[in-house]
Amino acid sequence: MIYLHKDSIYENQTIGSWAIPIFKYLRKKGKQVKLIDAHDLEVVNNLKPNEDDLFFGRFGHDAADKKMSKKTLPIVWKKFKNTFPSAESYYHYDDKLKQYNFMTENNIPCLETFYVKSKKDIDIEFPIVMKKTWGAGSEQVNYFETIDDVIDNKKNRGWTLQSIYPSLIQRYQDVDFDYRVLLYNSGFIIYKRLNEWKTKNKDNFPYGTEWRDRKDVLEKRKSLIHGPSLADAFDDLNDDLMTLIKKLKDIQINKLNSYYMSWDIIKTNDGYKVLEFSAISTMFNPFSKFYSFSDNTIIKENTRSVLAPIHRYKEFDGIKKLIDEYIK
Ligand SMILES: Nc1ncnc2c1ncn2[C@@H]1O[C@H](COP(=O)(O)OP(=O)(O)O)[C@@H](O)[C@H]1O
Ligand SMILES: [Mg+2]
Repeated sequence: MIYLHKDSIYENQTIGSWAIPIFKYLRKKGKQVKLIDAHDLEVVNNLKPNEDDLFFGRFGHDAADKKMSKKTLPIVWKKFKNTFPSAESYYHYDDKLKQYNFMTENNIPCLETFYVKSKKDIDIEFPIVMKKTWGAGSEQVNYFETIDDVIDNKKNRGWTLQSIYPSLIQRYQDVDFDYRVLLYNSGFIIYKRLNEWKTKNKDNFPYGTEWRDRKDVLEKRKSLIHGPSLADAFDDLNDDLMTLIKKLKDIQINKLNSYYMSWDIIKTNDGYKVLEFSAISTMFNPFSKFYSFSDNTIIKENTRSVLAPIHRYKEFDGIKKLIDEYIK
């Protein structure tokens, strides 16, 4: 039996709920599947899974989601042998400080990062990037050219409306794009997100896109900014990048107990550096391509599926790959 969490919190989001298309997909494959509310303590407490039952769910960074997940997921991890997300990957979820510690412990190339509680703690060379330990979609990621620009005001607090302290700081790396790698056990999707803040909306570091209508954000729980421009990155694959990706794959399976993680990477003057990683991410496959580890080739895919609404089929492509890793 596969127990599938109803992630109804995300129903109205761009990404949408995962549960319904996944449910249909598993049924079509002839799998036994049960939709449950894994945020309901009573439901979770009453689960009596078998050894080989799988628990599967999307637990995102929405505040209400995190609050309930903290209570119920530990019970799930005790009862099930196989879960997505794993306890190890969720432990690092939405916490860039924990991720930084993990990366340094596991020799993953990353940027030197400092935790600062106030302005006087800032003691690195400018320009810098300052970011909250939590949040997604650059909710509070600021670029500061000089120490005088570091002001805890409304503008820098951004959408979070919270003080810029405490935060993490890093030296700014002059890049025009970052890589998003959706890394599965069997292969990966890679694309670039263009960092267009220098030429477009300068107040929105790093993507430079416009703010979304406040109503959509509040009522539909949409992300705060319009998404970045994307570009194909499969042509950028070289030995260094491939070596890093394969290393990350070994680490995610052996240390994070997960068949899937997404990784944010930039190319600096000092080589590739990982910015963050996450078990839960958008799973969009914008260019419908997949690098397969088994035959070391890029597969061009025709993935249009009747199981997902038309505007979400590229997202469903990534989600389907995730499911396939767990039901193989
Ligand atoms: N030190 C840095 N130098 C240059 N760009 C950065 C730096 N840190 C973050 N960025 C840019 O901001 C993006 C978002 O940062 P990230 O740490 O991944 O936070 P999040 O995705 O949670 O907002 C990165 O993908 C990268 O484009
Ligand atoms: Mg990121």
